[in-house]
Amino acid sequence: MIEGEKLSDNIIEKYWSRFPDTYDKKMEYVVGKYLRDEIIQELNRLPELGELVELGCGTGTFTDTIVPKTKNMFATDLSDSLLAVARTRFGDHPKVTIQKENCMATSFSSEAIDSVFMANLIHVIESPSTLLEECHRILRKGGTLVIVTFTDKDMILWEKIKMGVRFVKSWGKPPAHTHSFSPDDLASMMIDAGFTVETSKVLGSKTKAAYIVGQKT
Ligand SMILES: C[S@@+](CC[C@H](N)C(=O)[O-])C[C@H]1O[C@@H](n2cnc3c(N)ncnc32)[C@H](O)[C@@H]1O
Repeated sequence: MIEGEKLSDNIIEKYWSRFPDTYDKKMEYVVGKYLRDEIIQELNRLPELGELVELGCGTGTFTDTIVPKTKNMFATDLSDSLLAVARTRFGDHPKVTIQKENCMATSFSSEAIDSVFMANLIHVIESPSTLLEECHRILRKGGTLVIVTFTDKDMILWEKIKMGVRFVKSWGKPPAHTHSFSPDDLASMMIDAGFTVETSKVLGSKTKAAYIVGQKT
């Protein structure tokens, strides 16, 4: 456990740390490769992002897509075993620092960072508003927040059922706090946390992700 970590954080860490070697395959099986590819295409359209913090990077699924957009970046997560996989991928990368952080209360200074990126994190977090407040705290004024996160909003019932079965087969019981946010839900949460929203859309067809980009006001 890291300093100040609660028992509930320890439970969350254990949940995500179970399958470091098969994590990427499981995710791809549950949501499909085409959604991952569509997320990558969207991220490739982002402008320069300066110094960036990635929260909940996991094994680094989207780290290699985001890093070319940055001056340098911190890829962070709560799970040691997933960070170990990320370290084997990016440990030698000149622009990437791999660092253990709890996204609800990071060690970054206030107003220090140009951009924050998170993929598939906010929908598995107990308090999304606390997470957004933390992003607001560490971002400089005008800094960019990029959120992409799986959602079952707008999925047809049959696809939801099939995805649920694939999830349970791969991961067992879902994590304790699982939300399903539409882009509108996320946009209004971001506005409440002190951001303007520049882009807000749904990605995917059978399985989906909400994609939001905004700036700290
Ligand atoms: C669904 S995975 C997404 C991982 C990766 N971004 C991706 O898209 O494949 C959720 C990630 O959030 C991390 N996580 C959960 N709670 C966290 C917290 N409080 N602080 C930091 N990371 C957390 C987990 O360890 C896990 O790596």
